[in-house]
Amino acid sequence: MIFENKHILLGITGGIAAYKAVELLRLLKKAGADVTVIMTENAKKFVGITTFEVLSENPVLSDLYFDTNTSVKHIDLAQKADAVVIAPATANTIAKLAAGIADNALTTTLLAVTCPVMVCPSMNTDMYQNIRVQRNLDILEKDGWHILDPDSGVLACKTTGAGRLPEPWFIFDRMEAMLTRKDLKGKRVLISAGPTVEAIDPVRFISNHSSGKMGFAVAKAAEKRGADVTLVSGPVHLETPVGVTRISIESCDEMAAQMLLHLGEADIIIKVAAVADYRPIDPKSSKIKKKDGHNELTLDMVETQDILKLIGEKKTKKQFLVGFAAETEDLEKNAALKIKKKNLDMIAANLVGAEDSGFKADTNKVKLIFRDGSSSDIPLMKKEQVANILIDHILDKMR
Ligand code: CTP
Repeated sequence: MIFENKHILLGITGGIAAYKAVELLRLLKKAGADVTVIMTENAKKFVGITTFEVLSENPVLSDLYFDTNTSVKHIDLAQKADAVVIAPATANTIAKLAAGIADNALTTTLLAVTCPVMVCPSMNTDMYQNIRVQRNLDILEKDGWHILDPDSGVLACKTTGAGRLPEPWFIFDRMEAMLTRKDLKGKRVLISAGPTVEAIDPVRFISNHSSGKMGFAVAKAAEKRGADVTLVSGPVHLETPVGVTRISIESCDEMAAQMLLHLGEADIIIKVAAVADYRPIDPKSSKIKKKDGHNELTLDMVETQDILKLIGEKKTKKQFLVGFAAETEDLEKNAALKIKKKNLDMIAANLVGAEDSGFKADTNKVKLIFRDGSSSDIPLMKKEQVANILIDHILDKMR
């Protein structure tokens, strides 16, 4: 939502990675941004101006003197801009920007902007590591601009090392972080997500349908808002959110151990995970074989430890503890009981079973219930949005 109706300037300089700017532009447009592309003369040698004009639905700015009626266009654009990203940024442009030189449409516009700026250097490794380039990047960073470190890998010049422009989704993600208010700065957030997996034997297990989407959305939102995030997750098919420390576990016991290990340093603990309530008492070390003449198998199960309850017993007054409750009936009554039983500050309760909320869906609809008995409904929306509203409520209650 952060890019909705925002004016973004996409600066493109003359590097081979200029083709990646096409995809970055598409991502920004898809997210609702109004994008104006500014190209240097050399950038136009790599990708044609028409591609950017068609995709951005705006004229590309590259010649300050092309149309005298719009000779102050760069100033209009600079004043209107909510963010600037320069991807790729060559050593030459970086040097000009650091020195305050204004000799083309891009460098001139950049002298007039006051909004957040992200510079994505991309060049040969030796050039990138050159003391002058590093010094120039330091200058820009000290001036308050965001420098996105290049990736390492095989470069166009056939050498291997740092200098590759990061993938467009990554640049997009970091721009999103750059524009997000850092109201969780200085806070450590510990989150559990996904299912737990309880072994029956080396090849079989008991688990549940949790996709991890809600917990990962909370981790992603918290990181973007400036928190230091640790995510303890059961097996899920999701990428770790950028900037989040992920600890992978399988069983309830492993999740408990990791949560307790990191509990002391956490300011906010959010237990989104769907922990198995029971596990086989005696997991076998070799595969259970079928027995002739037996068409039934009985598994003896024992209750797992309730991690949330354990944390509730150990938490200090300063720590804010949030649980999730999956219910199929009596949502409010059951959730309120869990607040008391597990010493929670807040619980996010949802009815499982509906197609558009719960485990596998990308959307969710939850009721937040607080320790003092008050509550707030979050209507059906994307899990990322639910995550942000959840964090808003946590911050509000912690004040
Ligand atoms: N939870 C936990 N450890 C368990 C079981 C649950 O930490 N062994 C946590 C979950 O991560 C969630 C909250 O407790 O934050 C509520 O989980 P839920 O399954 O809704 O409730 P239970 O306490 O397991 O009770 P019931 O299954 O009877 O509803």
